[in-house]
Amino acid sequence: MAVVAYLNGQFLDPDAARIPIDERGHQFGDGVYEVVRVYSGRPFLLEWHIERLERSLAAIGIENPHTREEWVELINEAVRRSGEPESLVYWQVTRGIAPRAHLFPVAKPSVSLTVRPFAGEAAVEPWVLLLPDERWANPWVKTLNLLPNVLAKEAAHRAGAVEALLVRSGLITEGSSSNAWFVRGGEIWTHPANRYILGGITRRFVLDLARDLGIPVHEEPLSWHELETVDEVFMTSTAVEVQPIVRVAVSAGLVGSLDTWPADRPVSLLPEVGEIRTVWQARGAQPVTDRLREAFADRVARFRHQQPVVG
Ligand code: PDD
Repeated sequence: MAVVAYLNGQFLDPDAARIPIDERGHQFGDGVYEVVRVYSGRPFLLEWHIERLERSLAAIGIENPHTREEWVELINEAVRRSGEPESLVYWQVTRGIAPRAHLFPVAKPSVSLTVRPFAGEAAVEPWVLLLPDERWANPWVKTLNLLPNVLAKEAAHRAGAVEALLVRSGLITEGSSSNAWFVRGGEIWTHPANRYILGGITRRFVLDLARDLGIPVHEEPLSWHELETVDEVFMTSTAVEVQPIVRVAVSAGLVGSLDTWPADRPVSLLPEVGEIRTVWQARGAQPVTDRLREAFADRVARFRHQQPVVG
């Protein structure tokens, strides 16, 4: 069992892998990435991840260095070499290696990848903190530029929350690294997969599960002011799968920035969270979330019994 790294054609010991200083990902964040979950030695929903990678690459004009079949082969080979049946594959494609200049270089795209053991994350009393969504206008592209996500997650974590729930012009978009879902009267609301959110692979899978279960779904944004009308909240991602949320809170000092961004420059982008007010709390059972969690677990259990890449 080992963490495996891959860099431009070579499998390496992760401690031996070195990214050149002139790598565009390192200097500009000029690249895109994917994260895939491996259950019982098999990458889950890999084709959907590869399709999203294709869209991300096309969006920022990086030539796709591999065919779909080559990506599948590379990822399966990395998982095989790791010997880690429960893991996460992270991989990124950047615009390549060239002396620093903003214009696109004449360079081959650079591919790097890791496989790391991962057995899931169990959060206790998971609650989320509303924070302004200060990302650029294209979070649908899975780019390496995650500074606003990193700052929001850190601010939420310092306040004791498991995730930041981002709000843009009053509307809840998604989490800093997850998609957000709301249940009202037995029906589901989630932000449409337009330019303002990352269209999660888990989101796509859970939408299918909901439709299979006959749960009505509205792909429409919800205003944070409407949270009091909500019965259940959950988040989804490759890492957390379907994560029930027990409380949504807001920092008194940041309420103003959820509806519009004040023009004043903040001193720090890691806001002092200060006094926290609960704006939504779970009232006991979360039956719709539970049904989706069970359906998700069921589908993963079935997937585990197919032919593994790692024995
Ligand atoms: N993040 N929204 C954002 C902003 C994300 O970064 C992620 C995933 C998701 C969920 O997408 P998916 O279901 O495809 O994992 C939604 C990954 C896991 C990460 O950055 O590590």
